[in-house]
Amino acid sequence: MNSELAPIGRGFVTRLRAVARATVYAAYGAWLGLVAILSLTVGLLVAVLWFLRVGRPLVLPALGWLRGLTDAERRRLRRLGHAVDAPARLDGGPEEQVMDPATRRELGWLLVHGTAGLLLGAIVLQLLLIAVHDLTYPLWWSEVGAGERTLLNGLVPANSPESARWGPVIGLAALVLWFVGTPRLLAWQARPGLALLGPVPGTDLTARVAELTATRAAALDAHAIELRRIERALHDGAQNRVVGVAVLIGAARREVDRDPERAHEILARAQDTTEEALAELRAVVRSILPPVLEDRGLEGALGALAADCAVPCTISIHVPVRCPASVEATAYFVVAESLTNVARHSAARHAEVEVRLVAGTLRVRVADDGRGGADPAAGSGLAGIIRRVEALDGTARLTSPPGGPTELEVELPCGS
Ligand SMILES: Nc1ncnc2c1ncn2[C@@H]1O[C@H](COP(=O)(O)OP(=O)(O)OP(=O)(O)O)[C@@H](O)[C@H]1O
Ligand SMILES: [Mg+2]
Repeated sequence: MNSELAPIGRGFVTRLRAVARATVYAAYGAWLGLVAILSLTVGLLVAVLWFLRVGRPLVLPALGWLRGLTDAERRRLRRLGHAVDAPARLDGGPEEQVMDPATRRELGWLLVHGTAGLLLGAIVLQLLLIAVHDLTYPLWWSEVGAGERTLLNGLVPANSPESARWGPVIGLAALVLWFVGTPRLLAWQARPGLALLGPVPGTDLTARVAELTATRAAALDAHAIELRRIERALHDGAQNRVVGVAVLIGAARREVDRDPERAHEILARAQDTTEEALAELRAVVRSILPPVLEDRGLEGALGALAADCAVPCTISIHVPVRCPASVEATAYFVVAESLTNVARHSAARHAEVEVRLVAGTLRVRVADDGRGGADPAAGSGLAGIIRRVEALDGTARLTSPPGGPTELEVELPCGS
């Protein structure tokens, strides 16, 4: 019974942590919204002064401020797991820069985020405040002045013991709304930034070409490294064993007339060595494209990895269709290497694997509650993951502060 409940409890704690993190980001988003709406007012003032032909020197500093603010939002979105690159910008004086489509989109963001974004963040905070205030209301309502005896953020007067009893009911409802609704409110709050702060559609092809050239080079690199690895594995493993078999059979032939008993022994060793060579060959073949993927699909293959992991591991997969073989194989290697690392280095009590196909992108997340401090420069496994992922034009993000937790998030485009 306990062993059944444990994953549910852990699932709840994980969700609670996610909601708390979402609350912090929504609050930070609200703060940026507040700064945005104030900046918009100042921006309007600058525009009016410019119109009156006295404000020109103020335009570039104002645009610099706008850039700083939008960069803060881009960083927030990146920390929330979105890929947002800053747009390319036109050089020139205030006139050119104001006419830059990237600037106009940023001004649009200022307006939307300064209103809707601020409101959404405020709702998240309000729900939490109402929950804490109203849940505890019966404990302290009689201690405060009559004017402060209200529930639901001042909307409902609650001046008697009977009405104070409604506090926990309202508080619980607010708590549930906060718990269930915060991730969605945060996602809504991120939308204007995602729509308006990235590269201007159609104009950043140069950057895209440079990126594709780089990832193509990485793909060729990854290919060459993979070939070298297979060559080493065949050379050091299977080939050596087969040489051993040839030597043993030669020795057996020489002994066969002189000492048949000894020849027998040598042949038995040759047979063992042949089997070892076969096992090595099988391992090499598996490492090229894991057959378990073919047999059981991504879900089955990852499920098997999680089940074999030495650290208890929960896995949730939502991939309704099959992805390209290269994407599935990369996802498999990412999870395999990450779980090996969890078992070897993390001292974690629990690990978590999440795989989702969202809008044509396969998202893989592996997290553990261990000691953290993972460093791609310290070994070849994590660096290999990053190389493989970049070769498929994907992104990998590792967060692993000392003390933990460790989280690796990988996004692989699946083509359209
Ligand atoms: N989940 C983790 N928790 C804590 N530390 C980690 C974790 N994953 C990796 N590390 C640290 O980061 C280092 C680099 O990991 P990486 O996988 O690149 O190399 P490795 O596991 O040491 O060797 P290999 O090349 O065989 O994978 C590890 O040596 C370890 O110290
Ligand atoms: Mg490793």
